Amino acid sequence: MIPIKSKTERDAMRVAGRVAAEVLEEACNFVRPGVSTLEIDEYAAGLIKQKGVKSAFLGYRGYPCNICISVNEEIVHGLASDRRLQFGDIVSLDCGVQVDGFIGDTARTVSVGSCSLEVQKLIDVTREALYDGISCALPGNHVKDISRAVQNRVEANGFSVVREFVGHGVGRVVHEEPQIPNFVGAGATPKLKAGMALAIEPMVNIGTAAIKQMRDGWTVIARDGRPSAHQEHTVLVTEGEPEILTCLETAALKPKAAS
Ligand code: MF3
Ligand code: CO
Ligand code: CO
Repeated sequence: MIPIKSKTERDAMRVAGRVAAEVLEEACNFVRPGVSTLEIDEYAAGLIKQKGVKSAFLGYRGYPCNICISVNEEIVHGLASDRRLQFGDIVSLDCGVQVDGFIGDTARTVSVGSCSLEVQKLIDVTREALYDGISCALPGNHVKDISRAVQNRVEANGFSVVREFVGHGVGRVVHEEPQIPNFVGAGATPKLKAGMALAIEPMVNIGTAAIKQMRDGWTVIARDGRPSAHQEHTVLVTEGEPEILTCLETAALKPKAAS
């Protein structure tokens, strides 16, 4: 069963989404040439502590870091290390926080200083694919409508969607039903209803879709070694327009307004 959030649960999700968005924004602003990924993770840990919340990822299935940091060909679940970012790299930050039992999950790829036009296009198309997917998060639509919108945008631009990792429902745990693939598969998919909270998260490779799992047990990379981008929002399906819970500009409810 796909959880339907009650009115109070929706408010709790709004708060968690806003905090996750704040952590992601501030962590992205900390990215610069010469910073190590461990320093970014520690900075994020400080932000999370300062806000009085918890990382939703630290300890999740044994994950050892506060946020996920994936550089260049790393797609998702990268691990913080003493690696220093260089001008021209791209880095994907994925922040999950737990606030009063509910989780907000959001990710973004940014360039370190700057990057090539081709790689910037990868980042931009991944974000456009995310927003195309979000625009389909309407009651009465099916999960497949989101998947199709994402896939179409990515492939129309000559990039590839990763298939082994997918978006998901989100709430009291990081990964709830339903799965939200970034491609259209065979078979029926669940119908969307108001009150579902969805993490929509295209992972897009500039080259081929094939992945490789690294021996650290976590980091997933593009098999061809070429750059990959990731953009994610937690979205609430409502009776009307989708509500992006992890967008600072649109997040409706500030933490202290929660009741
Ligand atoms: N952030 C991932 C997602 O968006 C999940 C990370 S799980 C972890 O679904 F264990 F790697 F933290
Ligand atoms: Co995430
Ligand atoms: Co997610």
